[in-house]
Amino acid sequence: MDVIIMKNIKILFAGCGEMGGALIDAWAGIIPPQNFFIVKKRADGVSALRARGFNADTKFPQNFNADIVVIAVKPKTVKEILPHVAPHAKNGALLFSVAAGRTVKFIEDNLGFPAAVARCMPNLGVAVKQGASGMFANERVTAEQMNLCTTLMSKCGVNVWLEREELINAVIAVSGSSPAYIAYFSECLTKACADMGLKENDARALALQALRGTAEFLQKTGEPPQNFIKKVATPGGSTEAAMNVLTSGDFSRQIAQSCQAAALAAQKREEEN
Ligand SMILES: NC(=O)c1ccc[n+]([C@@H]2O[C@H](COP(=O)([O-])OP(=O)(O)OC[C@H]3O[C@@H](n4cnc5c(N)ncnc54)[C@H](OP(=O)(O)O)[C@@H]3O)[C@@H](O)[C@H]2O)c1
Repeated sequence: MDVIIMKNIKILFAGCGEMGGALIDAWAGIIPPQNFFIVKKRADGVSALRARGFNADTKFPQNFNADIVVIAVKPKTVKEILPHVAPHAKNGALLFSVAAGRTVKFIEDNLGFPAAVARCMPNLGVAVKQGASGMFANERVTAEQMNLCTTLMSKCGVNVWLEREELINAVIAVSGSSPAYIAYFSECLTKACADMGLKENDARALALQALRGTAEFLQKTGEPPQNFIKKVATPGGSTEAAMNVLTSGDFSRQIAQSCQAAALAAQKREEEN
C-alpha cells in the first residue's frame, strides 16, 4: 500500500499488552506515532507511550476518527470495550480483532449492528517481527481495508488470508499455540544433549539455532520437507538412526492430537460466547 496512505492512517488500539504492544512496535515504523491512540486499563505505562509520541489514555477518545480499531484486550474484556468502539465502526472504521474465540457474530451482536470486521490470529513471533498469522474478513471489509491489513501484518512476519472463519481455530493449532510446543521440543532436545555432557546453555543455543536454520532453509528454498529429511539422513548415518527412533513411536499421532486439542479448545471458547 502507498506510503502516503499509510502515513495518514489513524489507528485506535483497545489494549496494549503482550500482543497489542508487539503490533504497535511493528507498525510504528510505517505509521507516525501521533496517528495512534492507545487505550489501556491502568494508568501506568501511559506516560511511557506518550513519551514515544503516541496518544495514550485509560479512556477512549471522543475526537479521534479511527480508520482501524485494533481489539487487543483479553477475550473476556471484548464485550466491555465494544460500546466505545461502536462509534468508529458506525463511521466505517475497520475492526481488527486479535482476540481468540471472539467471532465476527459475537462482535456484531454486541455492537448491535453489522460492521466491517477482520479477525487475525497472530502469535508471539510478532514481537520479533517473525509472526505467523491467519486472517479472516467478513463481507463488509473492503478490498482496500484487506490491503491495509496485509500491509500492516507483513511488518509482523508471514500471514495468510482464510476463506472461512472457522479455519481460525486451525491457525491457533498450527501457529497461535505452536510456539509453546516448539519451545517444548527445543527444551527436550536441549535436555537430552545436556545429559550427554554439553553445557545446558550451549545445548540450548545449538538447539534453537538448528530450529531457526531449518525453518529458514525450508522457507527460502521451498524444498519439500521429505526431500530435505532424505538429504540430511545419509543411509547408515546418525540422522537416520535418530529418525528411525523418532518415527517408530507415536510422535506424529501425538502432534496431530495436540493440534486437534488446541483447535477444539478454541472452538469451545467460541461456544461459551
Ligand atoms: N499473547 C499472545 O501470544 C496472543 C496470541 C494471539 C492472540 N492473542 C490475543 O491478544 C489479545 C490480548 O492478549 P495479550 O496477551 O496481549 O493480553 P494482555 O497482555 O493481558 O493485554 C491486555 C491489554 O488490555 C488492556 N485492557 C484491559 N481492560 C481494558 C479495558 N477495559 N479498556 C482498555 N484496555 C483494557 C490492558 O491494559 P493494561 O496494560 O493497562 O493492563 C492490556 O494492555 C487476547 O484477546 C488474545 O486472545 C494473544
